Amino acid sequence: MSDSAIGLEAIENASVDELRALQLSRLKQTLQHVYANSPVYRAKFDAHGVHPDDLHSLADLAKFPFTTKADLRDNYPFGMFCTPMEQIVRIHASSGTTGKPTVVGYTQADIDTWAQVGARSIYAAGGRPSDKVHVAYGYGLFTGGLGAHYGAERLGCAVIPMSGGQTEKQVQLLKDFDPDIIMVTPSYMLNICDEVARQGIDPNELALRVGIFGAEPWTGSMRQELEQKMAIDAVDIYGLSEVMGPGVAQECVESKDGPTIWEDHFYPEIINPESGEVVADGEQGELVFTNLTKVGMPMIRYRTRDLTRLLPGSSRTMRRMDKITGRSDDMLIIRGVNVFPTQIEEQILRVDGLAPHYQIELSKQGNLDAVTVRVEKSGASDDAALSRELKHHIKSIIGISASVEIVAENGLPRSEGKAQRVIDKRSGQ
Ligand code: DLL
Repeated sequence: MSDSAIGLEAIENASVDELRALQLSRLKQTLQHVYANSPVYRAKFDAHGVHPDDLHSLADLAKFPFTTKADLRDNYPFGMFCTPMEQIVRIHASSGTTGKPTVVGYTQADIDTWAQVGARSIYAAGGRPSDKVHVAYGYGLFTGGLGAHYGAERLGCAVIPMSGGQTEKQVQLLKDFDPDIIMVTPSYMLNICDEVARQGIDPNELALRVGIFGAEPWTGSMRQELEQKMAIDAVDIYGLSEVMGPGVAQECVESKDGPTIWEDHFYPEIINPESGEVVADGEQGELVFTNLTKVGMPMIRYRTRDLTRLLPGSSRTMRRMDKITGRSDDMLIIRGVNVFPTQIEEQILRVDGLAPHYQIELSKQGNLDAVTVRVEKSGASDDAALSRELKHHIKSIIGISASVEIVAENGLPRSEGKAQRVIDKRSGQ
């Protein structure tokens, strides 16, 4: 692999045959590596009756056991590492909703790979070495800030490591430092947009050209909203700490048709979440990743819980993933109907006079689940009419009856990172 990412890498548009051959040889190496160096993987493979030598084709990967968050938790903190600690140069962790954080470790080679896929991602988003990149993902144990930072630096951009929070200052720097690109969660970008408006700044006067948004689900309607509000191109970056961090997949700015998976490093499968069977490309299911080049802590068939489908390559030969509908953990089952917060977001954005700031509260009414959508309005419209319109869309498109509460501007808490969209008050009632 070339050390420099200034421009398109040859592998991004290699033939499918060449890519599959590379994946197979890297997969064999990775399986041998984890079997030889990780007692956890060795025990899992042995219990499952498989050995790395059983892999002759990419399809044979289906014979191997899944890795889940529970494996990481059971081996907390460093039990999944596949190299001695002397070779680990970085540790990250994701907080998770309950209990212990999920811990991941990187060797120097892993940090280099991550910087490379980060640079490749920013390039695909339209970034060039002459650009300034404002990073508003949080720096710290979260992989967002440092992942974006190393990628931008590798591409040769000037990085502004702002991190999350201090929204007024974010906007001051957007104005004074003239960054061309911002990397931030879409929900925090909305917050920044409001601050731009509050300070009376015309977005057209900012140098900002591209927003690279990820770390949480966001809809096509939210893309339009952010593009219009800020006069930018908004593209999707996907990643997860277990597999690497931001830059596992990136949407190309010229097609904006779902993130291209950097398949030379991350091998994707889609499975039926109930049966665990691999499904065909194009079918919806749970995304599973296997690291092909990671050394410190490779994941073999890691169940992401993210729901999507694989699509053929477009701007690159590598396959794309559809925009994530949501995580299986975030799926709400409302009186038997499966609902994702992104579906509600889509309906909110259809209504003129509603702002894209919302919360979904779940509660119990007797034995039944009740949903309240709390959403801010953006002007002086009539609350009752707004509420009626949103209720109607939710009922007719999603098929559930929700209560809608219209809240005044700035009436809901603002995100500075990943938004908390759902408040579940059902337990303990
Ligand atoms: O969120 C890494 C990241 C940072 C990605 C910055 C993109 C930008 P984790 O904290 O481990 O890592 O959370 C990973 O976030 O399994 C998805 O559920 C969700 N997620 C990440 N990117 C997207 C996206 C980072 N573009 C989890 N669309 C993943 C939807 C996303 N969900």
